[in-house]
Amino acid sequence: MNYKSMVRTEVGLVSRSIFVDPGIYERELQNVFGRCWLYLGHESQLPEPDSFFTTFMGADSVVVTRTNEGVVRAFLNSCTHRGMKVCRTDRGKAPHFTCPYHGWCFRNDGTLIGVPGMREAYFNELDRSQWGLREVARLEKFHGLIFATWNAEAPSLRDYLGGMATYLERMVSRSDGGIEMVAGIQKWEIPVNWKMIAENFLGDSYHVPTAHGSVVDIGYRRRPKLRGYQISLGGGHGFGSELGGMGGGGATSEEYDKFLAGVRDNMKKQNDPADQFIPLGHGTVFPNFSFLDNVKFRLVRMSHPRSATLTECHTMLFVDKALPSELRDKVRRDFILSFGPSGMFEVEDGEIWSEVSDGLRGHMSRSLDFNYQMGLGHDKPVSEEFGGNLPGRAGWYWSELNHRDFYRQWRELMEASDERPR
Ligand code: FES
Ligand code: FE
Repeated sequence: MNYKSMVRTEVGLVSRSIFVDPGIYERELQNVFGRCWLYLGHESQLPEPDSFFTTFMGADSVVVTRTNEGVVRAFLNSCTHRGMKVCRTDRGKAPHFTCPYHGWCFRNDGTLIGVPGMREAYFNELDRSQWGLREVARLEKFHGLIFATWNAEAPSLRDYLGGMATYLERMVSRSDGGIEMVAGIQKWEIPVNWKMIAENFLGDSYHVPTAHGSVVDIGYRRRPKLRGYQISLGGGHGFGSELGGMGGGGATSEEYDKFLAGVRDNMKKQNDPADQFIPLGHGTVFPNFSFLDNVKFRLVRMSHPRSATLTECHTMLFVDKALPSELRDKVRRDFILSFGPSGMFEVEDGEIWSEVSDGLRGHMSRSLDFNYQMGLGHDKPVSEEFGGNLPGRAGWYWSELNHRDFYRQWRELMEASDERPR
């Protein structure tokens, strides 16, 4: 594969084939999802010892546990005997997992503790210490957000996030006590490549007036002010910020905006120019951890690859622990009305993404490029616009700067050698 000719971000062109080709998808699982830091979930999903939840790292099912000692760990959800999932539920509490196929039993720290027929069938010759669950190579947290990687040689999570950490902090630790997940994760599939969703959150403010025009028409979202920036931090990470906060309108936003104003006022004392980015806006941490932080609610989206043209979306709502309880329920309603499988925005986005993907079935269609030329060569350092030493480069509110950097990062990883992470 010649990734240089497929991804020509220098001129803003990307081959459509990278959104459909099964061979490219297989390589992504190894070179992108096998090497990057991937978001697993939030600490509030593991409230006590023996709590667990399941999620994906790329296409691999993983189980994330809090052990009896209170340590967060993550394992491939695959029995070391014949590969059956040892955990088949989304979340719960369990000190160990018993495989439903032949009954091998693993403690929630991954240790193999029980093997039926150990004496009679294995003659006590099976070395159980060698057959524990496969653990992730590294696991680190960022203000309660849990990330892991299969890549033992990966940089630290902080280094991986780079300049993105400065802004991400504004989303997850801007008020006393930080954030917590409101119970329940919405999970559903969309027949489209995962990158189409990641890039939409990453930097696509451009689609809002057209694709979501009806939501403006009914008065649920105010018309975009077209005052804002797309900000790229390198490494494929970026976000888009509408100055003053995107997505206002409707009853809740006024109250929530007031709460946010209080948060902003509190932070002003520190006089950090990054605090201008509250709420943060929409964005993606490469490859597939996306978010939307507006004046109505704050969601996190994971776009898990299931095939070249199928993505499993996981969406969850976060609130500040300090958010008053009466507002919490209103925020939850706004979130459900907007995103998730029945959300107004989501239905519009999902239909469009599916039809883009459907349109790529034809030989002629997939032989063309997508156009990512918007704002090419017109970005500048964020610090020039917002002062301080703020990291990143900024393009205007409608710019495909972030997309170009995302696909440049993707190309770099896809071109890397085939050596598998240990
Ligand atoms: Fe798990 Fe056999 S597959 S015990
Ligand atoms: Fe949208």
